[in-house]
Amino acid sequence: MTSRVAVGIAGTGSYAPERVLTNHYFEKLVDTSDEWIVQRTGIKERRFAAPEQATSDLCVIAAQRALEAAKLDANDLDLIILGTLTPDFLLPASSCLIQHALGAKRAGAFDVGAACTGFLTALHTGEAFIAAGRAKHVLVIGAECLSRFLDMTDRSSCILFGDGAGAAVLAPLSECKRGEILRTSLGADGSSFDVIHMVAGGSRNPPSAGSVERGEHFIRLRGREVFRFAVHKMAELIEHMAEGHDQSEISLVVPHQVNQRIIESAVDRLGWSMDKVFVNIEQYGNTSAATVPMAFDEAVRSGRIEQGKLVIFCAFGAGLTWGGTLLRW
Ligand SMILES: CC(C)(COP(=O)(O)OP(=O)(O)OC[C@H]1O[C@@H](n2cnc3c(N)ncnc32)[C@H](O)[C@@H]1OP(=O)(O)O)[C@@H](O)C(=O)NCCC(=O)NCCS
Repeated sequence: MTSRVAVGIAGTGSYAPERVLTNHYFEKLVDTSDEWIVQRTGIKERRFAAPEQATSDLCVIAAQRALEAAKLDANDLDLIILGTLTPDFLLPASSCLIQHALGAKRAGAFDVGAACTGFLTALHTGEAFIAAGRAKHVLVIGAECLSRFLDMTDRSSCILFGDGAGAAVLAPLSECKRGEILRTSLGADGSSFDVIHMVAGGSRNPPSAGSVERGEHFIRLRGREVFRFAVHKMAELIEHMAEGHDQSEISLVVPHQVNQRIIESAVDRLGWSMDKVFVNIEQYGNTSAATVPMAFDEAVRSGRIEQGKLVIFCAFGAGLTWGGTLLRW
């Protein structure tokens, strides 16, 4: 048996589409207000992709930025893994379109479907490939064009989401010298599959004129139920990732940007300070699989992470799925 290769993060990148939609935009569409949205979610604005942009287009820009930060070429990549719930097409995988656009001629490519846990699922899969000696450089991405699947007449969901992409290039720690992935965890509970759900468009309810008329291709959620689950799960994930470490060793927690109140309640439950938690939901809303890598890239580029200290990622979402990561920067 070969020994495990330690894996690090060689570079990160992100991209948010240019079009900014403030809460006032939604005041014209549904019975809501800027005040309600800010108070209940922390969101002030979000980005929507341009009509000609799809998920893979956002990914390519984020990936190019991550490759540049890693000082690697697309041809160095062995594998591309994309976490998304809004691929360009049901068939083929969007990671193949990214592979082609980047010119990553040597890379295999596949998508993972784990909703808001998509990036962490891609990250942990990429880490496992390198750790097992099956790949050297893996590009992992979390990205969404959620704006295409929002019911703009449903005030309880349309105000929550935005579009964006975040990427990281993984490499052996001996090469990149930072971002060692120390601990990973993934979980699922399919008994609650319909709490956050797109009813039609797949093999159980193929798309039809009727399904479109009934709005079954839109994202539906039971927000209050998600809220309760999310506070508990976020606190549990952070606690699990931090196990065996003193709080002073932790530089930053980068949580799924689901709702400011969910994040604050979870952190409060742990008795931690919000100073250790990175939040940018105000600007981008919930971009599902993209929230953690977008926030992490922003934290890295703005120098928020102390060298040699620990970083925790945590995410959860439809499935239900959840995941946590502990790394040393
Ligand atoms: C959706 C969410 C913001 C709602 O906040 P909340 O404090 O739980 O609010 P509630 O659902 O209890 O609704 C309170 C009232 O506000 C109303 N409301 C919902 N959306 C509203 C909006 N955009 N503007 C104004 N009022 C709104 C509800 O209809 C309800 O009215 P009622 O009491 O007359 O029925 C919150 O539950 C949440 O963020 N949940 C998780 C979201 C999620 O699932 N994300 C994706 C998974 S990662």
